[in-house]
Amino acid sequence: MSTKFKNPRARFNFQGRTCSITGVGSYVPARILTNADLEKMVDTSDEWITSRTGIKERRVAAKNEFTSDMAVKAAQRAMKMAGVTAEQLDLVVVATITPDMPFPATACLVQQKLGARRAAAFDLEAACSGFIYGLEVGQQFIMSRTYDTVLVIGAEKLSSIVNWNDRNTCVLFGDGAGAAVLQNRPNAHGLLTAVMGADGGKANLLFMPGGGSRCPATLETVTGRLHYLQMEGRETFKSAVQAMCTAAQEALRRCEVDISKIKCIIPHQANRRIIDAVGERLGAAPHQLFINVNRYGNTSAASVAIALDEAVASGKIHRGDLILLIVFGAGLTWGAAVIEW
Ligand SMILES: CC(C)(COP(=O)(O)OP(=O)(O)OC[C@H]1O[C@@H](n2cnc3c(N)ncnc32)[C@H](O)[C@@H]1OP(=O)(O)O)[C@@H](O)C(=O)NCCC(=O)NCCS
Repeated sequence: MSTKFKNPRARFNFQGRTCSITGVGSYVPARILTNADLEKMVDTSDEWITSRTGIKERRVAAKNEFTSDMAVKAAQRAMKMAGVTAEQLDLVVVATITPDMPFPATACLVQQKLGARRAAAFDLEAACSGFIYGLEVGQQFIMSRTYDTVLVIGAEKLSSIVNWNDRNTCVLFGDGAGAAVLQNRPNAHGLLTAVMGADGGKANLLFMPGGGSRCPATLETVTGRLHYLQMEGRETFKSAVQAMCTAAQEALRRCEVDISKIKCIIPHQANRRIIDAVGERLGAAPHQLFINVNRYGNTSAASVAIALDEAVASGKIHRGDLILLIVFGAGLTWGAAVIEW
């Protein structure tokens, strides 16, 4: 990989247009479920969960709190930071695997709750990679001059598809939402590149068999527990480390940026061991990695969006800093993005 640091903006600042992230925001539900709480629900221990995953606690949405509700709260915070009104939004994209309903799109419900009457709205399903897929989609609309202001949200109520009797999976996931406002800003800082990848050949590693056209809901699918997510943990782990490293290296190569120039690396927060392995393979120093998996577990599409908001709020990221986001999820899907803040 090149160790030169050219000005990558020169390549991505197309005809004076830049896709800038002008606001970020996040929301997590109030209820905290600790490892000690899980010890009372399944045969597990704080020691096992902490040593294998780094997770200490996760958030769980209330019964009457849905993905769209969390998405709206995160979006309102991002819009406030951006100084953007709902009327200004041209497009709302919600990345989620836990929509309020199979249809209509959760993005339409969010559009209505925000009062974004002018905006088009659709959901995007790339599992835990959804937020970077969403950023890339938003960027394409902005750079093509189709839209000037795009709201991208990653939001999940994973507690609704987790089997709370399965210790292999229930300790790993949590609920929450994160959002970003993308705007055209002439000759400004912004999203430099986003890499996306997929491998449907490994769809069986992480999936939810019930509820789609292949296995519509019946009494049998419910008693067979087909409406819960299922995962091959060990294989998923290996694929995650490999795909995240490849995606990150490709994103850095495209921008001709060395890893040492990245101020803050925000990897998908699935497992502390995955994050450490990715950081090590990329040659990153521990202080470059932003980690909050200990507090939220894996919130899928919301994961890097929440972490980005927290990194900004905590003062870890300043104007002009280079940031690397890296994601991986069911599909399989993966991606990486380099942002000049
Ligand atoms: C799930 C994961 C934490 C398991 O860790 P691991 O080190 O691979 O665990 P192993 O598979 O070696 O060990 C599993 C053993 O622990 C047990 N176990 C699983 N969950 C447990 C729990 N919550 N508490 C106690 N024991 C548990 C299993 O029953 C198994 O026991 P056995 O060996 O007697 O059959 C890890 O594989 C992982 O994080 N995978 C990736 C998950 C992920 O990121 N998914 C989302 C991608 S977006």
